[in-house]
Amino acid sequence: MFVTFEGIEGSGKTTQIGLLVDWLRSRGLRVLVTREPGGTAIGDQIRHILLHPTHTEMAAEAEILLFSAARAQIVRQVIRPHLEDGWVVVCDRFADSTMAYQGYGQQLPLDDLRQITRFATGGLRPDATIYLDIAVEAGLRRKAQTPEEWNRMEALSLDFHHRVRAGYLTLVSEEPQRFLRVDASGAVAAVQNDIRAALAARLGIEG
Ligand code: TYD
Repeated sequence: MFVTFEGIEGSGKTTQIGLLVDWLRSRGLRVLVTREPGGTAIGDQIRHILLHPTHTEMAAEAEILLFSAARAQIVRQVIRPHLEDGWVVVCDRFADSTMAYQGYGQQLPLDDLRQITRFATGGLRPDATIYLDIAVEAGLRRKAQTPEEWNRMEALSLDFHHRVRAGYLTLVSEEPQRFLRVDASGAVAAVQNDIRAALAARLGIEG
């Protein structure tokens, strides 16, 4: 089972993934958690190039290829082998981030991104994707409380982040059978309960 988390900056993915994984493990499942970009030694180096705040000259085309290179590596080195071995793999961001950020945000052609992504993933797609939805201003306000984590993507304009959120909402509406949209504006425990309930219903496990 391959589960991904998506959302704009400050949607609380990392906190919610930690809690969900504790719950899945308490039910006896073998769970691997990973994140994009990163998750492998090669991916972590690519992540450093991608997110370094001084790399403002990066071309949008270079950006997508670097994200995709990290993805190609993690799919083959980590995700596929674990799925084949019966693990639940939970990934903090995956290909939908490319559609939302590089497609809707940077406005690169969506068809090109789909092709590049298909090549990078070898066609692997999540079984379920939890989209944590929060207003742009609320998310950025949360993020601003931890400024040391500020990265190059977060420094982009407010318009950019609005396009990213609208893009996510489009993706969710296009694939309602895969996406689980969860309101992320509430308290941590309430959001977690919603995630568990949605996932349990989708995967046919008891909540
Ligand atoms: P990260 O610090 O992991 O942010 P977050 O905690 O919000 O996930 O940085 C990842 C950044 O990279 C984030 O701003 C989204 C961006 N990103 C893309 O633009 N395209 C992609 O394909 C991926 C995977 C991430």
